[in-house]
Amino acid sequence: MTRQSSTAPPGGTISTRPLGRLADGRLVDLLVLRNNRGMQASISSYGGIITSLIAPDLEGEPADVVLGFDRLDGYLAGHPYFGAIIGRYANRIGKGSFTLDGETSILARNDGENHLHGGIAGFDKALWKARPVSTPDGPQVELEYSSVDGEEGYPGRLDVTVTYTLTHDNELRVRYHATTSRPTHVNLTSHSYFNLAGPESSDVSDHLLTINADRFTPVDAGLIPTGELRSVDGTPMDFRTPVAIGARIDGVDEQLRFGGGYDHNWVLNTTGSKLSLAAKVSEPTSGRLLEVLTTEPGIQFYSGNFLDGRQLGKQGRAYGRRCAFCLETQHFPDSPNQPQFPTTVLRPGLVYDSTTVYRFRVSDPRQMKDRSPS
Ligand code: BGC
Repeated sequence: MTRQSSTAPPGGTISTRPLGRLADGRLVDLLVLRNNRGMQASISSYGGIITSLIAPDLEGEPADVVLGFDRLDGYLAGHPYFGAIIGRYANRIGKGSFTLDGETSILARNDGENHLHGGIAGFDKALWKARPVSTPDGPQVELEYSSVDGEEGYPGRLDVTVTYTLTHDNELRVRYHATTSRPTHVNLTSHSYFNLAGPESSDVSDHLLTINADRFTPVDAGLIPTGELRSVDGTPMDFRTPVAIGARIDGVDEQLRFGGGYDHNWVLNTTGSKLSLAAKVSEPTSGRLLEVLTTEPGIQFYSGNFLDGRQLGKQGRAYGRRCAFCLETQHFPDSPNQPQFPTTVLRPGLVYDSTTVYRFRVSDPRQMKDRSPS
């Protein structure tokens, strides 16, 4: 592996190096973005995966705050979507089918009888064309992928561009664009598993979470929304003020039982498609604070319930149950079959355009208060 190149946008750098090869011989690159504030994001052209995200703590100490593997082989061996771009449809589509304009599409059923995260070979397993770009905001990677008509059962050829920009304001901005040749459904997200305490930490139960949502979409036992938008009031789903992730997670509650913990979509208190604050997580030992802003109407908070320690990640660490959390911005699960939900239909001539920002800050741990509703 000798190929190594580097470009230097104002105040930041991007370097590209080979990460390995796919079984069919195609080369996978790793692009490493560094801003001028001590943050670093590594992006693989395979799956558009964020393989590491290094952020400073209150003392300025950097640590990797996402799960993943040291080598490409780890990703190729199979994993629960660590850091990947998810498409064509983030989360579940009930019974793996939908009917659009009278035409029924049958998708892969890769989660019991349901379709999950784009199917068997979704965007997380695609080889994206990756290009480093200098922008005044910070170093950027532009990823392109063209999904053929009928891929994983979806209608239309979908041309997708995802850009990751690491801004000098310690934000990782993710912008998704897509166009289609035929009417189809699109719902893209990014699937990082975060632990803001850093790689030595094996539990996120003390992280304090806030979600800007008065309602969530309750699910059935297969984690498909029932169609109801239910108030969070008086439930363990109420994160309108900061609450420790672990505070209520094992309580007696049908929704928590279905998810094995949190694995639900919250209906964000936002209107229109303006970028607005969706969620906030603070970690009391490191002082790291993550804010998630999005143009999407929903966010999936998943508390890593299905991690079981069998996955050996970076430096051989076993990733156990709830050692990380995901905050996946999205349209609501199963929208193709739930006409009352905001639509995920994309038609030829229109552009799918969605932005999510992961903003890293630090805050004095003494200011981080668990205001758990009792
Ligand atoms: C889903 C979980 C799933 C996980 C990994 C999350 O987005 O909500 O149910 O287990 O992804 O596939």
